[in-house]
Amino acid sequence: MTVEIAPSVLAADPLQLGDAVRAVQAGGARRVQIDVMDGRFVPNITMGPETVAAVRGVTDMLIEVHLMIVEPEKFVPVFADAGADLIIVHQEVSPHIYRTLEQIHDLGKSAGVAINPGTPAGTLSEVLHLADLILVMTVSPGFGGQTFIESTLPKLRELRQELDRRGLAALLEVDGGINLQTASVAAAAGARVLVAGTSVYGAPEGVTRAIHGLKNAAEQGIAASVRE
Ligand code: DX5
Repeated sequence: MTVEIAPSVLAADPLQLGDAVRAVQAGGARRVQIDVMDGRFVPNITMGPETVAAVRGVTDMLIEVHLMIVEPEKFVPVFADAGADLIIVHQEVSPHIYRTLEQIHDLGKSAGVAINPGTPAGTLSEVLHLADLILVMTVSPGFGGQTFIESTLPKLRELRQELDRRGLAALLEVDGGINLQTASVAAAAGARVLVAGTSVYGAPEGVTRAIHGLKNAAEQGIAASVRE
């Protein structure tokens, strides 16, 4: 599988959100991530189901909804109804993560589970087979424009090896501080979906060249890791 870039609309101009979504689709993106924050799990408040529904109305790209909220199971149905294709919940606030992933599947959606920089990969061992996507946060969630945390790389490699060992098809995703340099090392470590906000929507060269640049950097990272 090649690498996919998932632009995060958190970094887009909220007054031009529709155009921002259309621009990354035209620029080659096949998925987009919407960051939902509740001010409790993370120290920020962002967007809700109405924004997801609005984005659903302007694109046929895969919509990932990243729930950075407490008690995510309570809002899974709402975001499924709003048009999410993939719903990502955090392990740290999901004591019944097995049931929550099943809940997402029962609603006909793909299910993702995310872990923060301080959360070990081993916390996911009992649900790796159930998840369609594993999100390794490479920053502490809450804000865009942060610096990639290098110490998450061994965790990425550990999860890549475990997914491959068990022959599981779950996608491995990273989110936070993804730029040309970190895209390369994250992909080399095993990531196949890279969430990027600032480096796409803040790119002086525009979103199309930014997306293609990140994708190329990631694929060169993979190629280099294979040669090693
Ligand atoms: C959590 C958010 C951010 C955002 C991407 O904080 O999930 O990681 O999507 O942020 P940047 O701007 O670093 O790509």
